[in-house]
Amino acid sequence: FLKAACIAAVAFVPSIAAAACEEGEVVVKFAHVTNSDKHPKGIAASLLEKRVNEEMNGKMCMEVFPNSTLYDDNKVLEAMLQGDVQLAAPSLSKFEKFTKQFRIFDLPFMFNDMNAVNAYQASDAGQAMLDSMQKRGLQGLAYWHNGMKQMSASKPLLLPTDANGLKFRVQSSDVLVAQMEAIGGSPQKMKFAEVYGALQTGVVDGQENTWSNIYGKKFFEVQDGITETNHGIIDYLLVASVDWLDGLDAEVRDQFLSIVGEVTEARNSEAYAVNQGAKQSVIDAGGTVRELTAEQRAAWVEAMKPVWTKFEGDVGADNIEAAQKINM
Ligand code: LMR
Repeated sequence: FLKAACIAAVAFVPSIAAAACEEGEVVVKFAHVTNSDKHPKGIAASLLEKRVNEEMNGKMCMEVFPNSTLYDDNKVLEAMLQGDVQLAAPSLSKFEKFTKQFRIFDLPFMFNDMNAVNAYQASDAGQAMLDSMQKRGLQGLAYWHNGMKQMSASKPLLLPTDANGLKFRVQSSDVLVAQMEAIGGSPQKMKFAEVYGALQTGVVDGQENTWSNIYGKKFFEVQDGITETNHGIIDYLLVASVDWLDGLDAEVRDQFLSIVGEVTEARNSEAYAVNQGAKQSVIDAGGTVRELTAEQRAAWVEAMKPVWTKFEGDVGADNIEAAQKINM
């Protein structure tokens, strides 16, 4: 492995001047798709990069590639298995080719808030999911929080029937396809980097995302408004390949994983505030935000919740029950 790390380091230096990796350092390329600032994942990735480069100088060298500049989320996991990238944090919605277990996080209205998501992930069932893709070569290191999803479209959305006949962009998740079909929409899986253009040109009429993504990628500029539905979540898995982790020197791996743990704790507790800040930034920039009455929200719940039954076999009725208990 050491030989491979040296070769990687030498090959890495000329193309990425800013990283200034030294020979013998383990090179860690971390690819993700969001902004690097005003975003829970972007901030966490930058903090991880800073701490690794300061505290593990001489042993490890990290370079973060935000904004889909290296890989989009649909390619990054295959690139990781080939050793072209060492770290990624795709949303839990984007692991369907590797496991169906994460589908619980996409089911609409499954979790009341991010505290419930956090508690579920901390449970034995949630922690076991980190190891669920080992046979496929992937190891979950930590859950990184973003936040609750909101709905936006080219017209006001106050009742689910307002979504009838609209084309919605979704992440690459069959649960989200079913969710949009449940409200009479026509869903289209699409890369994150293509959403703004698709909304602008009318390839799709609407989308769902967190405040930090809606603000960071300026979706509000090309939508009539955003409805605060809080109907689902976007959360991430910080992931590496089993082979890469196994190949690390034990002491290097331990130090790296302990920094990962500290960064996760520090940034997850700030994710809510980052999203609230992004919501305010959308309003300040002239975006329209609509709130739902209790009756209107109940109509969204009623329309979307039948989706649970369809995926119960994938996620387990016992897990759904455990998640619901946490909400109480
Ligand atoms: C999306 O594709 O909308 C999100 O998964 C992007 C992200 O990483 O938050």
